[in-house]
Amino acid sequence: MAKQIVTLNVNGQDYELFIHPKTLLVEAIRDYIRLTGTKRGCDTVSCGACTVLVDDAAVKSCSVLAVQAQGTKIITSEGLEDEGKLAPIQKAFLDEGAYQCGFCTSGMLMSCSGLLRENPNPTDRQIREGIEGNICRCTGYNSIVRAVELVAKGTYKEA
Ligand code: FES
Ligand code: FES
Repeated sequence: MAKQIVTLNVNGQDYELFIHPKTLLVEAIRDYIRLTGTKRGCDTVSCGACTVLVDDAAVKSCSVLAVQAQGTKIITSEGLEDEGKLAPIQKAFLDEGAYQCGFCTSGMLMSCSGLLRENPNPTDRQIREGIEGNICRCTGYNSIVRAVELVAKGTYKEA
């Protein structure tokens, strides 16, 4: 199949890409748009490092073709902040030390962000279920759960 023009809206900006129809969304974001916060950890839809928001829902971007994401609003970890001010979930991750090597962090942030958009007051169990598709090889799960709980409690406000 020949390459084609695909338009993606990422972090509020339209990008016209000339790509193969089989290009994955994660490839389009990282290799064409050059937003490398989104990580590629497994390519088997297992690790969650590639998670982004598609129309406010957390989606593993290695499980979607870029062409399928046309007409949606995509948010990556770079798009969470607002005019240089960190989003509440980013502040909570920082304060709670909810990262170690950082490889899983952007995917975790996006899954947590998707969870909070869908359910602003999740229980401990719902938070753990919400991030069950994200693997942290440094095993910092408790601090991640605590960060989400603090945002849900309103400890961190929008900038
Ligand atoms: S790279 Fe997509 S789930 Fe691992
Ligand atoms: S912080 Fe290292 S993989 Fe999660």
